[in-house]
Amino acid sequence: MPLVPKAIKNLRPYSPGKPIEEVQRELGLDRVVKLASNENPWGPSPMAIKAVSGALGGLHRYPDMLARDLRSALAARFDLKMENVVVGSGSEGIMANIMRTFLCDEDEILTAENTFVGFMVLANGSGQKITLVPRGADYRYDLEGMSSELSEYTKIIYLANPDNPTGTIFTRKEFDAFMKRVPSRCLVIYDEAYIEFAADDARFPDSMSYRYDNVITLRTFSKAYGLAGLRIGYGFAHEDLIANLMKVKLPFEPSVLAQIAGRAALEDQDFLRRTLEGTLAGRKTLQSGLVNAGFEVLPGSTNFLAVKAPSAETAAEICQNLLLRGVIVRPLTAFGFPELFRVTIGTEEENTFFLEALKAT
Ligand SMILES: Cc1ncc(COP(=O)(O)O)c(C=O)c1O
Repeated sequence: MPLVPKAIKNLRPYSPGKPIEEVQRELGLDRVVKLASNENPWGPSPMAIKAVSGALGGLHRYPDMLARDLRSALAARFDLKMENVVVGSGSEGIMANIMRTFLCDEDEILTAENTFVGFMVLANGSGQKITLVPRGADYRYDLEGMSSELSEYTKIIYLANPDNPTGTIFTRKEFDAFMKRVPSRCLVIYDEAYIEFAADDARFPDSMSYRYDNVITLRTFSKAYGLAGLRIGYGFAHEDLIANLMKVKLPFEPSVLAQIAGRAALEDQDFLRRTLEGTLAGRKTLQSGLVNAGFEVLPGSTNFLAVKAPSAETAAEICQNLLLRGVIVRPLTAFGFPELFRVTIGTEEENTFFLEALKAT
């Protein structure tokens, strides 16, 4: 028996966007703008900052294992019981717990090709069989195609809506038809990390308006609430699913500060409103700037846009030239789309800086 299991030995680790300091140091640039990791460009929620500052003196104590304050606040906001809510170290932390809790023996995983790379790292690391269903020509999930790939061993289905890295969505109608074909023994992870940015789209199927006992909805404080650095995400599901997840999660995750920040950010409706207004306005500016510059932009319902270059070589060249001018965007080659790059919506100033750099490339 080898020391390292095959699935781990062959695993390609997650590779994050380049940090600002690294690019500054390597290229000797004064100004570097990072539009690579879909973070909130307006900083963290001010109410969360205040709450965290006030809690620092209590760091010698372990957190509430059941995260009752935060879970009750989320339950109240979404009209549920606390028993329907789980919180974790980012929504990815909850995803990891779902894999540990529900996968065993011959269980298989089903998802779309080239979907959220964080999930793919977990899926590949699990050592279970994975079926990846190709997308349509419009880069969207092919839910009908996915339903045809269901097998008697399918246990976990992963759907990101909106999807990362493409930003595309599947519609209510498509989701309804899909769920009719999913047996109740399959667990659907419905990842809504970007839901706040898509909520104004009537075609978007907010998973909370459905009642399926085999769907777990995942959301995060990392994007619209600006708390990516603290690692705090949440999920909603039937209480039996949540009870089993609670058995498996690390006893004291999320941390004291993450729980407190999440609780405060949830109340910070003013920050949320400003984030959404700024993102939607910035999305329009970038969309038209990119189209005017001759690019095809995938319809995006998130805080980022996926941009299509004429070829894989051009996409790589553009990303490199932008980097030399101090703009970090995300080439999508490693995500399986060499002809695309992804740009996060920034502040007004950052968006202008990006469009000017793009013109100069
Ligand atoms: C689709 C999707 N799900 C989940 C996450 C991870 O969120 P968190 O920071 O809550 O782990 C991301 C982050 O980029 C994402 O794009």
